[in-house]
Amino acid sequence: MPQHQFTRRRALWLGLAALTGLGTSTVARTITTAQTALRNSPAASLDKLARQTQVTGEQSLRQRAKAKGLIYGAAARRANLFTDPALAKAYQAECGILVPEWELKWSSGDARLRPTLQTFDFSRSDWMLRFAQSHDMQMRGHVLVWHLGLPDWFEEQVNRQNAEQVLVRHIQTVAGHYAGKLHSWDVVNEAIEPNNRRADGLRITSWLQLLGPDYLDLAFRAAAAADPQAKLTYNDYGLEYDRPDHDARRRAVLKLLEQLKAQGTPIHAFGLQAHLEGHETRFNPNKLRRFLADVASLGLEIYITELDVIDNRLPRHPTNRDRLIAQAYEDFLTVALDEPAVKLIVTWGLSDRYTWLSDFHPRSDRAAVRPLLLDANLNRKLAWHAVARAIDQAPSR
Ligand code: G3I
Repeated sequence: MPQHQFTRRRALWLGLAALTGLGTSTVARTITTAQTALRNSPAASLDKLARQTQVTGEQSLRQRAKAKGLIYGAAARRANLFTDPALAKAYQAECGILVPEWELKWSSGDARLRPTLQTFDFSRSDWMLRFAQSHDMQMRGHVLVWHLGLPDWFEEQVNRQNAEQVLVRHIQTVAGHYAGKLHSWDVVNEAIEPNNRRADGLRITSWLQLLGPDYLDLAFRAAAAADPQAKLTYNDYGLEYDRPDHDARRRAVLKLLEQLKAQGTPIHAFGLQAHLEGHETRFNPNKLRRFLADVASLGLEIYITELDVIDNRLPRHPTNRDRLIAQAYEDFLTVALDEPAVKLIVTWGLSDRYTWLSDFHPRSDRAAVRPLLLDANLNRKLAWHAVARAIDQAPSR
C-alpha cells in the first residue's frame, strides 16, 4: 500500500474524528461527505479494509499467531495477575508468551529484584515464571541492563572500581537463575540517543560513564555464558515513523547492531518496542520495511517487544478513537509482519485496565486512555481485530 494512501486515509479520519466536538448535524454531514469522497477515491479499498472491523472465528491471538509460526503475547505485572483472576484468564487465553513488566528489572513498580548491592529477590519473577509455565506460555526476560529502573542504592554504591563486577554478577545471577527457561532476554535496553551527540550514537548513561562503550559487549557475553539457550536481544524505541528524529535513531541503531555483529558480540535478535503514536500520520511503509530488512540482513531475528498506541492526542470520543488506534496497529503490523525475520509480537499490556500510559501519557481531558487490545472490561476492541487480521494475513514463518 503506497504511503500516500496511508497518509490520506489516516489524515481524513483524524480530521473527521477531530470534528466530533461540533454539532451532530455538522459532523453527520461531514462524515457523509467524507464517506462519499472516500467511496469514489482510490483510498476507498483502504477504508473498506479499515471498515472490516471484525475477523471471523473465535480463535485467540495466541492461536492465530501459532498458525503462522509467530508468537503473540503481552507484558504483565504480577500485582495485576495475582489480584485480578479475570485478567489472568484473559492472558491465559490470548498470550503465548509473557513479559514481566516490572519483576525482572533491578527495581520497578512494586518489584525489588535487587533490594541491595549484595542481594537478589526472585520471589515476584519466579511467580511470573510459574504463571507462564502453568498456562503453557513462554516467558521473555526484560531487562538486564538499562539506565532506568535502577534501585536507589545504585548511584551511591556503584563506581568505576566495582561497576564491571556489579554488572557481570547481576547478569550471571539473574540470567543464570532462569537459564534454559526463557525464550529470550532484553540484554541491553535503549542504549541509543543521537541527541547526546556522540559519534557512536550511544546514550550517555551511568553504564557508559562507568564502563565505556564496551559495556554492551560485556553484558551480552555475560548473558551468553549464563544462559546459552536464550535469544539475546538489543531493544530500543522511536524507530517507526518518517520523521528526522526517527531517521537518526534508525541510523544509529543499525550502526550499533552492525558494530556488535562485526566484533562477534553474541546477539541474536533486535527488539523494536513500537510504542506507536495514534496522532502521527508520518508513517512511511517503505522506510520501515527497509529498516527491518537491513536489520534482518545482519542475521538477526526481530521482535516487536512493547507494542501499544499512545492515544493522548486523539479525540476523546471512544468510537472514533478506537478506529484510529486500530488503524495504527494495522498500518504498522501489516508492514512489520511482511518481514520474515519478525518472529514475535508483544503488546505492552493486554487490557486498558492496566497500562503505563495512564501514568506516563495521560490525556489532558482526563478521559481514560484506550491504547490496548482489550477494553477495561476485557472485551475485544477494534484494535484486537486489527491485530488478529494483520496476523491472519501475514505470510507464514
Ligand atoms: O501505579 C503507580 C501509581 O499508583 C503511583 O501514583 C505512581 C507514582 O509512584 O507509580 C505508579 O507505578 C509506576 C508504574 O510505572 C505505572 O505504570 C511505577 O512506580 C513505575 O516504576 C513504573 O514504571 C515502569 C517503567 O518502565 C520503569 O520501570 C512502567 O510501568 C513500565 O511500563 C515501563 O516500561 C518501559 C520498558 O521497561 C522499556 N521501554 C519503555 C517502557 C515504557 O516506559
